[in-house]
Amino acid sequence: MSTYYITTPIYYVNDLPHIGHIYTTMVTDTVARYQRMRGRDVYFLTGTDEHGQNIERVAESKGIKPLALADRVVERYHQLWSRLGMTHDDFIRTSEERHEAGVHEIIRLMEKNGDFYLGRHEGWYCPRCEIFYTEKELLDGNLCPIHKTPCEWKVEENVFFRLSKYQDRLLKLYDEHPEFVRPASRLNEVRSFVEAGLRDMSVSRTTVSWAVPFAGFEGHTVYVWLDALTNYISALGFGGEETKPFHHYWATEDPVVHFIGKDILRFHAVFWPAFLMSAGLPLPKTVWAHGWWLLDGKKVSKSAGGVVRPDYLIERFGGDPLRYFLLRDMVFGQDASFSDEAFIERYNGDLANDLGNTTSRLVTLCRRAFDGHLPPIAGVGVDSQTDLAQTAAEVVTEYHEHMEAFAFQEALRSLYRLLQETNQYLVRNEPWKKMKDPDATEEVSKVLWSCLEALRIVTTALLPVLPQRAPQVLQSIGAPVPAKFGESLSWGGLPTGGALQEVKPLFPRIDKDAWIAEARAEAGAKTEEHSVSESEPTQSAAGQESPAADSPAKLAEPTAEERIGIEQFFETQLRVARVVDAEKVPKSSKLMQLTVDVGEENHRTVVAGIAKAYDADDLVGKLVVVVANLKPAKLMGIESNGMVLAATEDGQPVLLHPERDVPPGTQVR
Ligand code: ME8
Ligand code: MG
Repeated sequence: MSTYYITTPIYYVNDLPHIGHIYTTMVTDTVARYQRMRGRDVYFLTGTDEHGQNIERVAESKGIKPLALADRVVERYHQLWSRLGMTHDDFIRTSEERHEAGVHEIIRLMEKNGDFYLGRHEGWYCPRCEIFYTEKELLDGNLCPIHKTPCEWKVEENVFFRLSKYQDRLLKLYDEHPEFVRPASRLNEVRSFVEAGLRDMSVSRTTVSWAVPFAGFEGHTVYVWLDALTNYISALGFGGEETKPFHHYWATEDPVVHFIGKDILRFHAVFWPAFLMSAGLPLPKTVWAHGWWLLDGKKVSKSAGGVVRPDYLIERFGGDPLRYFLLRDMVFGQDASFSDEAFIERYNGDLANDLGNTTSRLVTLCRRAFDGHLPPIAGVGVDSQTDLAQTAAEVVTEYHEHMEAFAFQEALRSLYRLLQETNQYLVRNEPWKKMKDPDATEEVSKVLWSCLEALRIVTTALLPVLPQRAPQVLQSIGAPVPAKFGESLSWGGLPTGGALQEVKPLFPRIDKDAWIAEARAEAGAKTEEHSVSESEPTQSAAGQESPAADSPAKLAEPTAEERIGIEQFFETQLRVARVVDAEKVPKSSKLMQLTVDVGEENHRTVVAGIAKAYDADDLVGKLVVVVANLKPAKLMGIESNGMVLAATEDGQPVLLHPERDVPPGTQVR
């Protein structure tokens, strides 16, 4: 039997779980369930990432030991995953001994290969990412491109890993196995990063004590990412006594898939395979980087102030409707917007109406027509326009193709096509008009049986997506709930004549306005309880990470949720300003300090990231457009009072000027 190893990232314990963590875990669980139903020997791993400076700091601020903080958060993860019926086979914690053994072993193998040396390391370091960035990668003011918080200049004596040595082998890997990084756009991103040249990386710290000791280098501890990535094999017994699972699930030709968010792509698609190559170990088959759930255009993170409270949704509806929404509304690989409105519309449309109403309508019709029973005679659902059995067969084929390719949205769309055709077929054949006619019994029976059979197939295919609700739907139509697909997706599986109970609505409709008002109140009350730490700020918008996002050809039309009212736009005060003076900020390659006249009594200072694209002298006297009502911000110690508007092409700013001379201070709208 083919094996199938699938993992989520291991989540940091300085945060409580939020919708992003729930998303990756739900998706992974869906795939695990689907593959088990296909008969594969699945191993599904999740867990927590517990070492490092961040966790040390948060624990310290709370006056507790890092492990005590981790225990608390891990408890929340266990509760949540159990409540959501997650079917992971293991939950690894990096603070466990079995994990530490795996880290020691991978380090031993890398060392044996001569890939470590001591060196001095200095550079811009983001304490949240726990990674060094080049100046080119930083945002204005030396901000982290992911967190938008200041990076620190750090100097350390570290153990270095000869990453540069693996550049060619990595490029060869991407060429020979393009399926190693998915989707394809991410592969391009990774390839360009590696092609630009890999520098050796520091893989030890001397300042972090909550970490795995670095054997052979006194006073050094293992860099968190080398530690964390090893979880994928330490959980299988690598480095321990019982290595059978490692050989069975990892060292195999069968699928080994890491599901991750695109925020941690570089670690999984560049560093991880390089570590494994260095240690002489087999590589995973696929790193699948999905997009971000955005809230008001920003990456959803714990402290995002929006209405979305997954625990509230889960409390009210259980996990399935959320899971359906997350799978249906995100193209796997792209970003998507999360909003209560979108959730409720999806719920009311697809679950309450299409699935729920179809079920209760069919059951009610059957109970009336056949005295509380399923139709006595099976049929094939053919009329002049539809061959339901044929459509069902097509849809099932599509469904498998899409599920194997992780195109969840498409898989669900296919299933809903069958559901819609079933409804149209029912309406066209109007069995309710003939129910009283004894001569029409056979026809009525065949029509209703066909509709129920199509519904059974749709619902059986939905089992991995709606593991709690789909069985209820199947039971309510008298259909079996299979543990494996087997023949269950073929036409003909619904019994005839069994007793049917009355159905309670399985997906009661939500009153959108009332619900949103209530959710807001609830969210307000819960914010306190929700925050473990102040650590994760609202993170950067999608465009920041993917270089492709600047290219106009690839932009999507804004969705309904992304659109704003004109009043909201007018909150931004845009004015024409004349540049009175300009000067490069010393020690920064990007920043320019501008003195501008915005029509006020005093001139303002504005710091702009345009020094690579413009010379100070060329700017003086020019008219530009500034945002005049921004809160002041300090950049390299200079207070900036406004922002200059520029288009960005290939990462370079292009300033906007009024088309002809107008006085400074002129309003722009
Ligand atoms: O990065 N949308 O842990 P983490 C979609 N410990 N997915 C999201 C998301 C969002 N807005 N926010 C988070 C770490 N995620 C490391 C990983 S692995 C060896 C170490 C999901 O707690 C997504 O899967 O910050 C992302 O990659 C992960 O949570 C990051 O979780
Ligand atoms: Mg994170």
